[in-house]
Amino acid sequence: MPDIDAITLLKNDHKAVEKLFKRFEKAGGGAAKTKRKIVDDIIRELSIHAEIEEQMFYPAVRAAEVPDAKDMVLESLEEHGVAKWLLSELDGMDPEAERFDAKVTVLIEAIRHHIEEEEGEMFPAVRKVLKRKALTELGGSMDRAKGIVPTHPHPRSPDTPPGNIAGGLASAAIDRARDAGREALERAKKAVP
Ligand SMILES: [Fe+2]
Ligand SMILES: [Fe+2]
Repeated sequence: MPDIDAITLLKNDHKAVEKLFKRFEKAGGGAAKTKRKIVDDIIRELSIHAEIEEQMFYPAVRAAEVPDAKDMVLESLEEHGVAKWLLSELDGMDPEAERFDAKVTVLIEAIRHHIEEEEGEMFPAVRKVLKRKALTELGGSMDRAKGIVPTHPHPRSPDTPPGNIAGGLASAAIDRARDAGREALERAKKAVP
């Protein structure tokens, strides 16, 4: 597959999570199992997305000396931090718990605001400074990293290089083993007559 422009890749991710948000909102009052599944997908998508932004995109934005880069990146990291706490609380939470829907609603509001700022302010500023070739190379690396970064939130882990890269490798191995275990359990449950 040809390398993808970094900003296009991130926008595609944003669209994918927005689709999941809409599905959750449409699921309504009951539908606990469906909502649990949608939230599992949201956790996975947002965890991977936040990692590639924190490990690769935000450092590139700062290094390229985009105007106001430092403030935009620092605010983004704080917003990721808040989102990760919500995601970690939702990870494994009973979808029938009284607080479940409210937590997801607050998460969705926070992420929509964050996406609006990235797409409205950060990305256009980056486009003005970074050449297409640089963005395509970066996008290719980010795309490949998607297969190896953590799949669950780690709100206490470092969120800037080099700490997040080193820590991310260990967390990713644990997360991915955990995902494989869960999938095996689901398959085993389905196999029971
Ligand atoms: Fe972000
Ligand atoms: Fe983003």
